[in-house]
Amino acid sequence: MLQIQNLHAQIEDKPILKGINLEIKPGEVHAIMGPNGSGKSTLSSVVAGNEDYEITQGEILFDQESINEEDAETRAHKGIFLSFQYPVEIPGVSVTNFVKTSINAARVAQGLEEMPANEMLKKIREKAALLEIDSKFLSRSLNEGFSGGEKKRNEIFQMAMLEPKLAILDETDSGLDIDALKIVANGVNTLKSKDNAVLVITHYQRLLDYIVPDYVHVLFDGRIVKSGDKELAKELEAKGYDWIKAEV
Ligand SMILES: Nc1ncnc2c1ncn2[C@@H]1O[C@H](COP(=O)(O)OP(=O)(O)OP(=O)(O)O)[C@@H](O)[C@H]1O
Ligand SMILES: [Mg+2]
Repeated sequence: MLQIQNLHAQIEDKPILKGINLEIKPGEVHAIMGPNGSGKSTLSSVVAGNEDYEITQGEILFDQESINEEDAETRAHKGIFLSFQYPVEIPGVSVTNFVKTSINAARVAQGLEEMPANEMLKKIREKAALLEIDSKFLSRSLNEGFSGGEKKRNEIFQMAMLEPKLAILDETDSGLDIDALKIVANGVNTLKSKDNAVLVITHYQRLLDYIVPDYVHVLFDGRIVKSGDKELAKELEAKGYDWIKAEV
């Protein structure tokens, strides 16, 4: 589904990603861990199509086609979803209207009709129930005055509504209390299928007890320096990153 080949990217002439190779197949869950500033959010932004970053080398393929030159909107319509580490506030646009607009824009881009209002409403109710989101919350302005945890949960609600092929969750666990973490993880697990994939970026092994990864990668100074299975996350939690730095 996603193939990243020798990806180099920079911002304002500062190289951040220095040769990333990663393949994610349908049905897989990958986790990326790594110290602060190693390039995790940059990698997710570059895959999602954030134009602040310049790809200087390498290729990002989605469903076998290069998406290097495609804008963020096109990538979203193809089924790439990014849950931001720091979600933006959009005053005056309700949560409900935002998801309706996003869904219909994607459908129109795919040559489909807009989703009928009753179907949309049913889906909103179903996904809000899954994530234990109160209906009052859905009419509030997007992220405005939301607590940190509410923003994260709302990101997962958007993901649940959009049903992306590839969901990238950038530190969705940070700021969540234990109950919210379980609800969010449950939401992600419910949406998992053999046809879609998830890339979770996290600092803590705890999340991976709930969203169990098939692969864990360590990003260090813009490169993936180690890959393993879920045991690698446990090792990192126990030992920190110094032993990996020593190996690089
Ligand atoms: N807009 C920018 N201008 C300058 N430097 C930037 C910019 N965005 C990112 N960087 C730098 O790129 C490097 C990687 O940042 P990135 O946010 O990808 O790290 P991260 O691995 O997500 O870290 P964290 O775990 O703290 O979230 C950092 O040194 C950061 O300062
Ligand atoms: Mg980050």
